[in-house]
Amino acid sequence: MQWAGVKRHILRDARGVVLEVGAGTGETIKYYCEREGQVERIFGVEPSLKKCGILKYTAKKLGMKDRYEVVPCGIEDVEGLKRYGIEYQSVDTVVCVLLLWFETDWRFTVCAVFLSHRR
Ligand SMILES: C[S@@+](CC[C@H](N)C(=O)[O-])C[C@H]1O[C@@H](n2cnc3c(N)ncnc32)[C@H](O)[C@@H]1O
Repeated sequence: MQWAGVKRHILRDARGVVLEVGAGTGETIKYYCEREGQVERIFGVEPSLKKCGILKYTAKKLGMKDRYEVVPCGIEDVEGLKRYGIEYQSVDTVVCVLLLWFETDWRFTVCAVFLSHRR
């Protein structure tokens, strides 16, 4: 429950096309649902194929199937991202929730900043 408030707070400014780095099993999707009209499309980047399956299921269950695209790769996989049309300045918001604290490679951060804010 403690994280619920934190996640809601982080996601309150998400708008337009959103890139979520480390989307996990989709624990944040319900907060995007609260941003109806503000969030256009979400790319959930997640390298664990097992979690990708659950992520897809969660998006469908919450009625986000048409707006939520599961991107099954790590954020450092620039070619993998390009296959989904994600490249320099192609998104409006980059979201990282519960990811950077266990990050061992600074490329995550660099990629996230590189990809952000087309407007
Ligand atoms: C602690 S979970 C957080 C999940 C979700 N953001 C949430 O708040 O519930 C961190 C996630 O980051 C993913 N991850 C690890 N390395 C990653 C990478 N290189 N690129 C993108 N995601 C990564 C993990 O597989 C895991 O699902």
